[in-house]
Amino acid sequence: MFRIAYRSRLAGSTSQHDIEDIMKTATERNSSLGVTGAWMVCDGDCIASIEGPPLAVKQIAESIWDDPRHTGFRLVSMEHTEDRLFEGWELKFLDAGTVKDDPKLLEHPGVSWLGNLAGGTEKFFGDAIVYHH
Ligand SMILES: Cc1cc2nc3c(=O)[nH]c(=O)nc-3n(C[C@H](O)[C@H](O)[C@H](O)COP(=O)(O)O)c2cc1C
Repeated sequence: MFRIAYRSRLAGSTSQHDIEDIMKTATERNSSLGVTGAWMVCDGDCIASIEGPPLAVKQIAESIWDDPRHTGFRLVSMEHTEDRLFEGWELKFLDAGTVKDDPKLLEHPGVSWLGNLAGGTEKFFGDAIVYHH
């Protein structure tokens, strides 16, 4: 098993429709190749991870870094591992809305690992997930 994590920024022209399109392709392709992962987005900033068979991860990663819907792709982690961090998630999408709806997601081991690569989930989402009473 192989796992990578990367950061990038959504392109200015990337819309909600594009995100839905990416998620549709990603869930189909990841599940057919035995890949799992998570994708966190806040104010256009992205941090994401995919894990699975090494060749599948490499193949998908090549598509991702060529994708014009985001820019500044940089790898922040790459490791061989025995265990999945994102078991059951073909590609979990997390933005401020999803996290507000289900704050427990921040305690998920994979999500907190990924968030730590960006200085912590709280820092990554920042004011976007502050609750206003
Ligand atoms: C931030 C981001 C994350 C993506 N994550 C995945 C993913 O996990 N799996 C996947 O198959 N495609 C993902 N995509 C879509 C790929 O870039 C690509 O469009 C898709 O895999 C189809 O590959 P192809 O364009 O080489 O045919 C992602 C795209 C972006 C912008």
